[in-house]
Amino acid sequence: MWSSTFTLLTLLGSTLALPQPKISSIRRPGWRPNRRDLHTDSTDTSSSPPTTTAPKDNIWNVLSNDEAADVISFLHSKDDLNLTSVDDAGSWDNTIMVIDLLAPNKTDALDYLDKNGTMPERWAIASLLFGATEEPYAQDWVVGPIPITNDSSYYPYTFGTHTPEAKIRVYDMDSHS
Ligand SMILES: *[C@@H]1O[C@H](CO)[C@@H](O)[C@H](O)[C@H]1NC(C)=O
Ligand SMILES: *[C@@H]1O[C@H](CO)[C@@H](O)[C@H](O)[C@H]1NC(C)=O
Ligand SMILES: *[C@@H]1O[C@H](CO)[C@@H](O)[C@H](O)[C@H]1NC(C)=O
Ligand SMILES: *[C@@H]1O[C@H](CO)[C@@H](O)[C@H](O)[C@H]1NC(C)=O
Repeated sequence: MWSSTFTLLTLLGSTLALPQPKISSIRRPGWRPNRRDLHTDSTDTSSSPPTTTAPKDNIWNVLSNDEAADVISFLHSKDDLNLTSVDDAGSWDNTIMVIDLLAPNKTDALDYLDKNGTMPERWAIASLLFGATEEPYAQDWVVGPIPITNDSSYYPYTFGTHTPEAKIRVYDMDSHS
């Protein structure tokens, strides 16, 4: 059943195994909890190659657990989004499906990597499912900068798409309820 299986964690952990709306905006690997822990656990320090220090920080690092939690709580605090925690949500609720790093804009990245620019801000992109309406849709939202401060903002992700509002109608919500 949709409402009991569709939690953020299980969705991320077994994307292919779960019934889910056909939403073409789910195109990113997405944030997975404990990814860094897994890396740490699998590192055999006794045979590690010599370490090097990168001259620049990796500006494409996946969101950390703290960053993802920061974004989740920020979005949940916004009344206009009317979000329901995935654990409590049914098909008639608004939920966060996936959160991922929004890659820095190329000019900002090149400025940092090739010139003497400041490190680009960290921003997230969140795929939200708006089920609390007669015509459910999915929409990507830009959130940042992270960490969340009073200066952080959120708005629909439109600059990478061709549709004005970047809403994707979801027609098969009922098949999951
Ligand atoms: C908010 O979502 C709930 C379902 O989670 C829905 O019943 C309610 O009508 C929504 N409120 C608004 C203002 O859309
Ligand atoms: C990236 O570029 C887009 C399009 O110019 C702009 O709307 C957006 O605010 C930029 N993002 C950041 C984090 O600067
Ligand atoms: C890079 O920035 C630092 C700190 O702002 C400055 O001290 C340095 O002179 C700059 N180097 C170049 C090549 O612009
Ligand atoms: C955000 O604004 C509120 C009220 O203006 C203030 O109490 C709080 O300290 C601010 N938080 C940050 C992180 O600046």
